[in-house]
Amino acid sequence: MAKTALSPSILDSNFAEIKKTIKLLDKAGVEYIHFDIMDGNFVPNLTFGPKIIKPLRPLTKTVFDVHLMIQNPEKYTPLFIDAGADIITFHYEAVKNVAKAINLIKSYGKKAGVSIKPKTPATVLKKYLKDLDLVLIMSVEPGFGGQKFMPESLQKAAILKKEIIKKGYKCLLEIDGGINMETAPLAAAAGIDILVAGSAIFGAKNPMSAIKQLRAAIAGTQKSKVKIQF
Ligand code: DX5
Ligand code: ZN
Repeated sequence: MAKTALSPSILDSNFAEIKKTIKLLDKAGVEYIHFDIMDGNFVPNLTFGPKIIKPLRPLTKTVFDVHLMIQNPEKYTPLFIDAGADIITFHYEAVKNVAKAINLIKSYGKKAGVSIKPKTPATVLKKYLKDLDLVLIMSVEPGFGGQKFMPESLQKAAILKKEIIKKGYKCLLEIDGGINMETAPLAAAAGIDILVAGSAIFGAKNPMSAIKQLRAAIAGTQKSKVKIQF
């Protein structure tokens, strides 16, 4: 099994210290940094736009994993790419034409992801898997950090993982919401490639040691070969 990667979400970090946070994540050697973009329309919360991301880009080579929880993501895709996004993930529920939105991101040479909310079935994505770099399964209702993990999301992961393996696609699976020391090993065992974690890291007294602990919890699962069969 490939190593499960971490994508810390800065949503619940102290935004007055955002540069310090990015440097800490760079030092921790995490594989991705997750940026949650909310428009107060697609989700009932507001965060930030590309202007906040752009000055952070020179601080690290870590992959910028941008999660757009906004209506009309196509309109803003070029702005986030200009700001330094490496992966752009939009919501299936926010667009009329999924294939067109994927192609737009790929036309800039960037990686394209699609996310589904808890009530959206995994099967809607089957026909797009061959063109996708990433599927982001929401394991909470999008909008806020610190919510409880929905275990049903692992069933969705199993459906998609099975299809990806069967067809030999390169699409990665990412899970977002409620990932902590208890749920991270479950998601890793279900074959998720990338775990987003926000409050488990930035709600901790020491984010660096929280990252280490999460990694150890994931590694423990992988060593003991706990595996969900597909
Ligand atoms: C929720 C966001 C997540 C979330 C993660 O809408 O997409 O990235 O902030 O936070 P935790 O890990 O606290 O659930
Ligand atoms: Zn997110």
